[in-house]
Amino acid sequence: MTNHHTTGDGGSIESRLTEQEYFRPPPEFVGQANVTDSSIYDRFEENWPAAYEEFAELLDWAERWDQVLDDSNPPFYEWFTGGKLNASYQAVDRHLPERKDQTAILWEGEHGTTERIAYQDLYRRVNEMAAVFREVGVAEDDIVTMHMPMVPGLPISMLAAARIGAPHSEVFAGFSAQALADRIDDAGSDVVVTIDGYYRRGEFLDHKEKADKALELAESDPETVLLFTREDELHEDVSIDSDDPYVLVDEVLQDKQGVSVEPVARDAEDPLFLMYTSGTTGQPKGTQHRTGGYMAYVTATSKYVLDIEPADTYWCSADIGWITGHSYIVYGPLSLGTTTVMYEGAPDFPHKGRLWEMAEKYDVDIFHTSPTAVRMFMKWGEEIPRQYDFDFRHLTTVGEPIQPEAWLWYYEHIGGGDAVIVDTWWQTETGGHLITNLPALKDMKPGSAGFAVPGIEPAILDDQGNEIDPATGQAGNLVITKPWPGMLQTVYGNDERFIDEYWRAFSDTSSDDPEDWVYRAGDGAVHERDGYWRILGRLDDVMNVAGHRLGTMELESAVAEVSDVAEAAVAGRDDPEKGTVPDIYVTLREGVDPGEDVRDRVVGAIEAEIGTFARPANVWFVDELPKTRSGKIMRRLLEDISNDEQLGNTTTLRDPSVPEDIRRQVQD
Ligand code: WT7
Repeated sequence: MTNHHTTGDGGSIESRLTEQEYFRPPPEFVGQANVTDSSIYDRFEENWPAAYEEFAELLDWAERWDQVLDDSNPPFYEWFTGGKLNASYQAVDRHLPERKDQTAILWEGEHGTTERIAYQDLYRRVNEMAAVFREVGVAEDDIVTMHMPMVPGLPISMLAAARIGAPHSEVFAGFSAQALADRIDDAGSDVVVTIDGYYRRGEFLDHKEKADKALELAESDPETVLLFTREDELHEDVSIDSDDPYVLVDEVLQDKQGVSVEPVARDAEDPLFLMYTSGTTGQPKGTQHRTGGYMAYVTATSKYVLDIEPADTYWCSADIGWITGHSYIVYGPLSLGTTTVMYEGAPDFPHKGRLWEMAEKYDVDIFHTSPTAVRMFMKWGEEIPRQYDFDFRHLTTVGEPIQPEAWLWYYEHIGGGDAVIVDTWWQTETGGHLITNLPALKDMKPGSAGFAVPGIEPAILDDQGNEIDPATGQAGNLVITKPWPGMLQTVYGNDERFIDEYWRAFSDTSSDDPEDWVYRAGDGAVHERDGYWRILGRLDDVMNVAGHRLGTMELESAVAEVSDVAEAAVAGRDDPEKGTVPDIYVTLREGVDPGEDVRDRVVGAIEAEIGTFARPANVWFVDELPKTRSGKIMRRLLEDISNDEQLGNTTTLRDPSVPEDIRRQVQD
C-alpha cells in the first residue's frame, strides 16, 4: 500500500488498496472494557446532541451547564453554555480524596532517573507553579507561551496556567527560535516558559539558546521568561545576563512552598489553550480550544477509546508539544486519575530496546504510538522486543494511516496477538479522536481507522461538494457534517481564516442554518462497503512528515529567503519510514551556480525557520518549475516525479516539456 494519491483532473480521488480481513477483539479485553454495550451508538444517534451530556458528566463542574449546544451562529458553535469548571481541578484536585498517593506522572529521564509524582505531589507542584505565574504578573486570559521538552515542568506549567485561567500555548521543543518568535508574537505573550536544556542521545542540548534568539527575533518584547533547570542547578554551559528577562523558576518557588491557589472557575467556552499548526497558506495558525467541551471530549474518549482505568499504567510515547500529548498524555489520562508515563529521550538510547525495557519495568498496560514508530520498530527487528517481558492489553496508533503490514507486525510482535490495536484518526483541530473503534464493540481491520466515534457524522464529498453515497467503497474529501464538543473554537485572532480553512470549501457560508455548514478535514478517505473508514492522507498543501504536519507554503517561504533562490516548490516524497518527506525543487537567480553551498543554505533555512525535524530529503536545482498558463505551480507533477510515477496530465501547462526535463534529471 502507498499513501501517495492525487486528485485527478476529473476530481476523482484514487485509491488502490486491497481488502483486509477482520480480527476479533480478544475476549480477555472485552471482559474488562469500559464500554461493552453497543447501544451507545444508538443513544448518540437518536439523542444528538443531548447525548453529549454523558461526556460532560465525567467531569466535576463548578456550575452545571444550561444548554448542551448553542448552534445559533455557525460555525462558532458553543458547548455546555452556562457551565463553569477548571481543567486543573479535573486533572488533579478531584483525585485527592481517593488516590493522593497513587502516581499521576511517571517520568523517566534519558539517563534512567525516575520521578514518580503522586497526585498529592502534583497538586502541590501545580499550586506552587500557579503562584509563580501570578507572581510574575500572569492574569486570567493572558496567554503563556511555553517551549518545553518532555520534563515534568511541562505538564505542571500547563496545569498551573489552566488553574489561574491563563491559556497556554506550548511550542514543540524541536521548533526553531524563529518558529518560537512567530508564536510568541501571534499569541501576544508577555510571559514565556522554557528550560536550560535537556538530554537527547546522551548529549545535553542547550535549549535556552533558542529562547535567547527568539527574543531577538520577536517583534514583541516579553517581560519575563521563566527558566526551569534540567538538573538541580543551572547547567554550567548556560548563563543569564543581568539585563535578561530570565527568572529562575526555582528562585521564585522558594517562598511559594506549600501555597494553595484556588482554581479559577472558567466558563465552559473560555479558551484552555492554543496549539499552532500548519495550514494551507502562510503562517501557522493558533488552533484555539475551549475548556468545557474539550475536557469533556478528551476525558470521554480516553475512557471509551483508550480504555483507561485509574489503576492502569498508560504510556503515550508522543511529545506533549503536539496535540496528541495535550489530549492523551496530559488532560484525558489525568482527568481519569490514571498513571501517565512520560519519557524524556530517544527510543534507541542507549539501545533499541529502551521502550520495551521501560514497558516491562513499569508494567505498562496501554501503549500509544505512531505508525512511523511502528515502521522503525519493524526495521529494528522483532528480536528486540522479544527480549523483554511486557504485556499490553491495548495498543493505539495515531498520526498517519497504518499500513496493514505494519499493523500485523505491531499486533503480533508487540501485542502478542492478545491486545487490541486501535487506530485513531483525528487532528489538532478536532481536539480528540473522531474516527476510531470503541475497541470491545468492533472488529479490528488492519489499515482502516474504523467507525466514527458516537455522535460524529463523517461523510465524503466529491470535489464539487456532492455527497458520495455512504459505504460504496469510493474515495472522496473527508468532511464532518455536525459539530462536536472537542472541536476548535476558531483560529486565534482570525475568525476569517477559521472559516476559510475549514468551512468555506463545502459550506454555504451565507447561511445561519448549521445544516449548511460542513467541516473540511483536508484528508481523503474511502468509505468501505462494510462501513469502515480508511484514511488516505492529506489532499491539500499540507504534508505529514513522521506524523508531524508541515505546510508546503511554510517550507517554500523559508527556502525563498535564501538570497540565491529565485523560486521554490515543495513536493511530498513517499518514505518507507517517515510516511512522507519533503523534496525541494529550486530555481536559482541569474548567474548563480548550483552547488553544495546553495544546497546547504536551503537546508539551513528550513532548519532555522521551522526546525531540524523538517529537513528535506532532496534539494533539486531545476531550470524551470512546471506552471500552468496562469502561472500556478503544478506541485502535483513534482509529486509524481518525486515518487517515480508516470507524469499526470500536462496539457494545461505553459510549457509541457518542463516536467519531462525535471523527470529525467531526477529519475534517470
Ligand atoms: C492529520 C492531522 C491527531 C494527532 C496527530 C496528528 C493525519 C492523523 C491519522 C490516522 C490516517 C491520520 C491526517 C490528519 N492523521 N491520524 N489514524 N490515520 N491519518 O495531528 O498534526 O493535526 O495532523 O494527520 O492527515 O489530517 P495533526
